[in-house]
Amino acid sequence: MITLAGVCGGYGGLDILSAFELNVEPGTINCIIGPNGAGKSTVLKTVSGILRPRLGSIVVNGLDLVGKSPAEIVKFGVVQVPQRHGLFAGLTVRQNVMMGAYVARASKKRLDARYDELAGMFPIIGKRASHRAGGLSGGQRRMVEFARAMMLEPQVVLLDEPTLGLDPLSRGVIYESTRAMNEAGVTVLMVEQNVRFGLSLADTVTVMSAGRVVLTGTASEIERHPDLMGLFFGLAPETDQVAE
Ligand SMILES: Nc1ncnc2c1ncn2[C@@H]1O[C@H](COP(=O)(O)OP(=O)(O)O)[C@@H](O)[C@H]1O
Ligand SMILES: [Mg+2]
Repeated sequence: MITLAGVCGGYGGLDILSAFELNVEPGTINCIIGPNGAGKSTVLKTVSGILRPRLGSIVVNGLDLVGKSPAEIVKFGVVQVPQRHGLFAGLTVRQNVMMGAYVARASKKRLDARYDELAGMFPIIGKRASHRAGGLSGGQRRMVEFARAMMLEPQVVLLDEPTLGLDPLSRGVIYESTRAMNEAGVTVLMVEQNVRFGLSLADTVTVMSAGRVVLTGTASEIERHPDLMGLFFGLAPETDQVAE
């Protein structure tokens, strides 16, 4: 369903990704792991159209996304939850979630019904609908971001480091919420620095280093790999301390 083949690309004419390959089956969770600076976020940004690859193809549900704008890609059902928090602190939870539907052009009735549906999946958006997003904890803000992405009834959700900066309890909530989205039929392509978390959640795992795939397999195959940490750190790029 999601196929990246021979993808090369990066920033300002400098390639970060080199011949990057990825296959994600419909209805599964794939997690990309790898050291800081490996190019994980760059993969997601290339799929969501923020970056245009220099070479290669990106096909989702038979549709080639290369050259499409981020807004068109959202309309095709591919929605990204970025690495950095992207809520409007001064707006309410409900206003933030509803913003996810700005391209949907659905009726107010339909959007209200969708909101109620999502409150079943992410209880916080029901309980705190009229609270300012700025007053929520990090984990709660993530829930609002997930709900905003789900407003569009996407087929694919891209999650960039969903547990970044969260305590174990909030990580548990992210775990359950990601599973719930997946069980609702969404294909998840996620990036995690927390390897244990990524392996516990994913069906399949892509290990990348310095813009390349170094290993792919099921989560249990990757978990049992005798030298996972060696692959990680042995092939880490010299630029891996670059701040996000
Ligand atoms: N906006 C940008 N402009 C130029 N270089 C960037 C930009 N964003 C990331 N990079 C570089 O691309 C490489 C991969 O970054 P990134 O995909 O964010 O890695 P990861 O998500 O795996 O930590 C790094 O060397 C980083 O410095
Ligand atoms: Mg990143």
